[in-house]
Amino acid sequence: AGEEGGVTERTFMAIKYDAVQRGLISEIMGRMEKKGYKLVALKMVWPTEEFAGKHYHDLKERPFFGNLVKFMSSGPAVAMVWEGPGVIKMARTIIGATDPLKSNPGTIRGDLATSVGRNVIHGSDAYSTAEEEIALWFSPSEIHAWNRTNEDWIS
Ligand code: PPS
Repeated sequence: AGEEGGVTERTFMAIKYDAVQRGLISEIMGRMEKKGYKLVALKMVWPTEEFAGKHYHDLKERPFFGNLVKFMSSGPAVAMVWEGPGVIKMARTIIGATDPLKSNPGTIRGDLATSVGRNVIHGSDAYSTAEEEIALWFSPSEIHAWNRTNEDWIS
């Protein structure tokens, strides 16, 4: 599949606690599903501050690091691995710019958020971070390499 598309790859995404509170889980997941990407891992995780710090270890020196870690550990996130052609870059496109006031309408943040501190979703920014984040959030046995089939699943 995807002969003319990008390389089939996997990315990590997390629906943040603000979106969980606001009832936006299916809205957000639906956008990835409708695009044609395949969900291969899914769970709800309430991160500790230590775990959130690990996830955002690259940002330790940033002034907002403390707030970001507190926010991420304030409630459960929906952790996901999505698979498909070019999914790492395309997920970032579907998510929109980091600051929801700068993200385009049609993107998740452009449509659903107004504040960078409450920007509803995270997505890995590159191949190396996708690998790292998938390994941090999921064990290999939680990732399911299922294939779409031509069987009639309705009747
Ligand atoms: S990017 O796209 O990685 O270059 O964006 P960057 O600005 O470096 O932000 C990295 C992550 O930090 C979050 N962020 C913030 N959180 C809270 N408050 C402020 N002010 C803030 N600025 C940036 C931003 O949402 C990125 O997290 P994720 O979860 O990847 O979206």
